[in-house]
Amino acid sequence: MEIENVQLFKKNKYICISKQLNFFNSEGNGSVPFIMMAKADVLLGLQWGDEGKGKVIDVLTPDYDAVTRFQGGPNAGHTLEFDGQKYVLRSIPSGIFQGDKVNIIGNGVVLDPALFKAEAEALAASGHDLTKRLYISKKAHLIMPTHRVLDAANEAAKGDSKVGTTGKGIGPTYTDKVSRNGLRVGDINNNFEEKYAKAKARHDAMLKGMNFSYDVTEVEKEWFAGIEYLKKFTFIDSEHFVNGLLDDDKSILCEGAQGTMLDVDFGSYPFVTSSNTICAGACSGLGISPNKIGDVFGIFKAYCTRVGGGPFPTELFDKVGETLCEKGHEFGAVTGRRRRCGWIDLVALKYAVMINGVTKLIMMKSDVMDTFPTIKACVAYKIDGEEIDYFPYEICDKKIEPVYTELDGWQTDMTKMSSEDEFPEEFNAYLDFLEDFLGVPIKIVSVGPDRQQTIIRYQ
Ligand code: GDP
Ligand code: IMO
Ligand code: MG
Repeated sequence: MEIENVQLFKKNKYICISKQLNFFNSEGNGSVPFIMMAKADVLLGLQWGDEGKGKVIDVLTPDYDAVTRFQGGPNAGHTLEFDGQKYVLRSIPSGIFQGDKVNIIGNGVVLDPALFKAEAEALAASGHDLTKRLYISKKAHLIMPTHRVLDAANEAAKGDSKVGTTGKGIGPTYTDKVSRNGLRVGDINNNFEEKYAKAKARHDAMLKGMNFSYDVTEVEKEWFAGIEYLKKFTFIDSEHFVNGLLDDDKSILCEGAQGTMLDVDFGSYPFVTSSNTICAGACSGLGISPNKIGDVFGIFKAYCTRVGGGPFPTELFDKVGETLCEKGHEFGAVTGRRRRCGWIDLVALKYAVMINGVTKLIMMKSDVMDTFPTIKACVAYKIDGEEIDYFPYEICDKKIEPVYTELDGWQTDMTKMSSEDEFPEEFNAYLDFLEDFLGVPIKIVSVGPDRQQTIIRYQ
């Protein structure tokens, strides 16, 4: 029986089911009353970040009541383009440009008050005042100036095997969170100076032990100005707030940062970030239970990029890699660093689909490959001469050789296309191949950076 025919009854009295499902009861008919329950959809990166999450969050926002960030911090750089304007968001959710939607910075996020102030003030100056529609979790942890220094000191101590972090203090802030030494947004109104001084003294002692010299006097002034600025916003008990929205049947879109291959547990450890970037991170980073997760949108580029150190099996050092970098403008939105480029890695992508329970795929930057006569896709790895089809534990320790399948390129400018009916045959073949390999439908195809250059697929 189709969901449209299911009767709706008072909440909690009957079994709840997802809006998205076609449901059959155990007798094969729809005689038992069921109730629709609002769910939180999650959109997250399946590769090493910078897949285009910001762009698609903005495109999807009109379908939702609220947009939430659940992990990461200003290491993220989410780019949106519309009406000839370009915006890069770091800590602020990408749902802020579509009307008066509620935007939330969840408990799993780490927040730098100085960077947040700069970001929010720039938005206010361009006509987007957020104070009435951006809410911040009291449980989000604060990035202190000395966290940034510790980030630099840790990297220096690693020498050649440095992670290549964004230098925003992400790792040290999450370390303090987990070791129960962190400062939270909710502390701001409660003995804050004392708590700050205590935390800073701890960092000073650590940095002294590392023989790392620094001076944060100036940065501290900006930081405290940021703390004052933060007070303009409403601090919330975000777990109650978010669950309250769901109880009121409001729809929520959770915006991931970084990507699955940078997840602290499942990415290419230790060349990862310090949070859970995967779908489960939305539960812990917002306080919503797994059974309240609806669709999981997994977003990937038609090829692959990585910024910073660490393994990248399909990385290209030739003309093709250069073309991807130049045509795709592959330079970090936050650090400006050149992104490493390569062919799509379906072994890693399949792993990411599994870890996240992806229900719908979104493919970005199809236009960047539209001059290539042939396209390669990595379908297996070779380690010590042996072929494997899964993402291995030894990803950082062994030399990984990609095994490729070759497909025809489409050699057609896609940037002005507005419907899937216009897709060239070879491009459709590429989509079919990816869907077969990954076992999940590709529902959105992006053919350029602008909001308008987004094609929803109905087939
Ligand atoms: P995010 O961190 O996942 O939000 O992605 P970034 O903003 O860091 O990087 C994605 C880059 O690709 C940005 O510069 C976007 O403007 C751009 N972009 C997004 N989608 C497309 C696309 O389909 N084609 C092209 N050429 N650029 C795109
Ligand atoms: P968005 O959300 C791409 C990378 C860094 C480094 C590693 C650890 O824009 O996709 P960190 O500063 O987090 O301790 O750095 O993770 N990294 C990203 N790479 N996109 C990002 O975010 C990233 N955030 C962190 O380059 O390799
Ligand atoms: Mg980015």
